[in-house]
Amino acid sequence: MIGYPNVRLRRLRSTENMRRLVRETIVFPSDFIYPIFVIEGKNIKQEVPSMPGIHRFSPDCLPAELDEIASLGIPAVLLFGIPDQKDELASQAYHPDGIIQQAIRFIKINYPQLLIVTDVCLCEYTNHGHCGVVKDDYVDNDLTLPLLVKTAVSHAEAGADMVAPSDMMDGRVKAIRKGLDENGFCTVPILAYSAKYASGFYGPFREAAESTPQFGDRRAYQMDPPNLREAMREIEMDIQEGADMIMVKPALPYLDVIRCARDSFKLPLAAYNVSGEYAMVKAAAMKGWLDEKHVTMEVLTSIKRAGADIIITYHAREAARWLNDDKRMP
Ligand code: PBG
Repeated sequence: MIGYPNVRLRRLRSTENMRRLVRETIVFPSDFIYPIFVIEGKNIKQEVPSMPGIHRFSPDCLPAELDEIASLGIPAVLLFGIPDQKDELASQAYHPDGIIQQAIRFIKINYPQLLIVTDVCLCEYTNHGHCGVVKDDYVDNDLTLPLLVKTAVSHAEAGADMVAPSDMMDGRVKAIRKGLDENGFCTVPILAYSAKYASGFYGPFREAAESTPQFGDRRAYQMDPPNLREAMREIEMDIQEGADMIMVKPALPYLDVIRCARDSFKLPLAAYNVSGEYAMVKAAAMKGWLDEKHVTMEVLTSIKRAGADIIITYHAREAARWLNDDKRMP
């Protein structure tokens, strides 16, 4: 007879070892990419007010953080630069001695065991805070592409192992692939922020990266949150243009998009558990309203269960520590 009382699903939940045997989704430190903010100057380690535990570092202060990341078994970092000078054409984004290029060289020399992924976007480097060249109050797609190419090539020249364009211009993956190949970087892969939504969850990041648009918003280039089929078109186009990995961002409010992308495409799939998702958990945990470890592991597991292979998360350091500690438990 099928069904209760012959079948009792609770039998397989009786002990921790039983649950471990039948567990379908397991998160590992090797799934994580840890985002890092690098700021110009010396001896700077500033906590981001809306992101407790996350700091902006000058390059000389990176070692403490990177030593820990590497020792925890986290394979990769995602770098964001905050320059001293911003201008119309984001010139510090592709300056050979820009803050991000300095940071890449420093990490490449001192931490060869870490994979360096760089965010390719102009918003931290433009004086208006938009992700491209502004003409008549409109972010001009085709004027922006050459600057993104220059930025990606300069990252590769400095030693980046993978570039991740996050601007949402049309045709950027094709342009960047061509630019990398022409400059001798045919081995450098592209992780495309393919389905990146115009989300309210980027608020804390913009405080950290000083990249809030000075007028308007990003809805004319980032995706409209209600759209799923369009996300599949974005991903499909990026794959045709040469993306090596694809991304859905944010993660938690878009788990359905992650699942659909996983079922539709074969490429490695990353999900970005963004700043606002981190801030929500931190704030509630600091008030004693949620158990941070319990909730964080549940969040990360849900993202992996939805189909992500790679999770970009500000919780990577803490989560890796919890995972490593639990492994040692008797
Ligand atoms: C740059 C960029 C943003 C994020 C990653 N790359 C901000 C934005 O698009 O406004 C957000 C990451 C986060 O919130 O953690 N364009």
